[in-house]
Amino acid sequence: MGTSLRRCEKILFLLVLISIVASYSCQKNPPANNTNPTANASPAASPPAMPPWPAGFPQQMPTPVISGNVPRQILVPGSTSSPLDARPFFDYFSWESFIALNWPALSGSRGVPNEPLNASIFFNAPNGTPVVWGTYKDSFDLFGQKDQRPSPWESSSSPVSPCPGGTAGQKTLIFTTKGDTPLMQTKQAFSFPLVDQQNNYAYYDIRYDEAQYNFIRGQDSDPTSWLYLLKNLAPKENAQFGVQMPMTTPAALGSMMVKAAWRISTPNDDPKRFYTSNAQIYDSQKQVCTPATVLLVGLHIAHKIDPFTEWVWSTFEQVDNVPPDPDVTPKPSPPPRGYSFNNGTDSPKTNGGYNYKPPFPGAGQPTPSPVQVSRVNPIPNTPAGQSTRDVNAYYQKRLQGTVWQFYQLVITQWPANPGIGSGKAFMLMQNGGVYPQNAGAAFPANGAVNTTMETYFQTENDAAGAGGNSCMSCHYRAGQSDFSWGLNRRAH
Ligand code: HEC
Repeated sequence: MGTSLRRCEKILFLLVLISIVASYSCQKNPPANNTNPTANASPAASPPAMPPWPAGFPQQMPTPVISGNVPRQILVPGSTSSPLDARPFFDYFSWESFIALNWPALSGSRGVPNEPLNASIFFNAPNGTPVVWGTYKDSFDLFGQKDQRPSPWESSSSPVSPCPGGTAGQKTLIFTTKGDTPLMQTKQAFSFPLVDQQNNYAYYDIRYDEAQYNFIRGQDSDPTSWLYLLKNLAPKENAQFGVQMPMTTPAALGSMMVKAAWRISTPNDDPKRFYTSNAQIYDSQKQVCTPATVLLVGLHIAHKIDPFTEWVWSTFEQVDNVPPDPDVTPKPSPPPRGYSFNNGTDSPKTNGGYNYKPPFPGAGQPTPSPVQVSRVNPIPNTPAGQSTRDVNAYYQKRLQGTVWQFYQLVITQWPANPGIGSGKAFMLMQNGGVYPQNAGAAFPANGAVNTTMETYFQTENDAAGAGGNSCMSCHYRAGQSDFSWGLNRRAH
């Protein structure tokens, strides 16, 4: 026992050492496209460490940092005896990823953090400063280009744009009432729109990082590698394990995909509690673009990181979305300007987390009335003293002074038995694979959703037809497209 423990510690020490070396070498080799001379002007050997984890957390928990570098590995000590024991390590990874992806972006470049080791850049950024994930290419850049080729990663414009007169690179959120077209960005995944308490629709925004975008876009020299075209995608999907996108290793970032939920800012809102952005809202019926300030209310992050071939799934929400879980004590007072998706009373009643599913109105018709939303799957309170709630409390305190203190990790879901190939459990559904075991033994198996993005799929019952009430159960159905529903549904 003693020796095996010691061996574990040695391995852990080695991993920590590797991570230090890796982050050091990241800093020494800025990305080639990093042309801003000020970007690395203030060299710091390592990002500032934060206070230690409170008593009760596993001793092997890595030290939290405020850094713009997305973590490239997940440390899970060999001594964890169950997936549940590993949760704090994954939640730590989720929060560090959240900070890095919401780091102010280096202007003039795409997906690059500005001075990733200088915490004051993060703490002093005015609200609305473009953040790293927000500069990723969006779903429309990749799949909405009709017969044209999506533009190269660094390019600031796309051949086809919904708002042609707009500023290059400005966020465009698309409203359409024409049914489920590739432009549809108000309707939730396989579902209905969401209307907030101010009687506005919520909008969705899907983005891909450089590795994933370039992988799907393919190489100029090889037209068969252009996977946004169905004729190229289909044969790859039929391979034994389907499409396989690049995976993050300590040496390089691999595939990450992000989906965000936004709502329109109104005079009733306190913008200090939300990350805000300027956007163009495109109405496909009227064919007009209207500028709006939007508030970030939800953020999904999926990261294909070695050895997790079935990806690691994290989801965050702004804390004012819906009332806290009933077992939270003492009961926090409601947010100063009310909840975004709940009127703060017990009426109307919610069943399965919502009171009704609004229809899509016809042209010129008024927006349907607000949806009353509640959280069905509580934010995990296990393992006791080191749960997702405890990790949230830790980070929210450290992020005071920024809008990010008003966000919470709702859940992390990951494959407890990851890997593809011989001796591994992974099998595509179309080859007879069964969830969760053949999806890498997803943990937890069920109940991992975001109230702003899977509002109507919170219960197993409601989600049965759509693929289940968790990230991995539903995205496993797009397993042949490497768990990307965007690639699966929007290749044309
Ligand atoms: C009931 C099914 C379902 C559930 C549950 C679900 N998703 Fe999705 N997800 C989708 C669909 C459908 C899309 C839409 C792709 C599009 O419109 O291009 C999507 C899109 C995404 C994207 C954008 C990129 C892409 O190509 O898929 C991310 C990231 C994502 N989901 C993460 C998550 C996370 C994290 C969770 C769990 C907290 C989750 N999803 C739960 C069905 C689901």
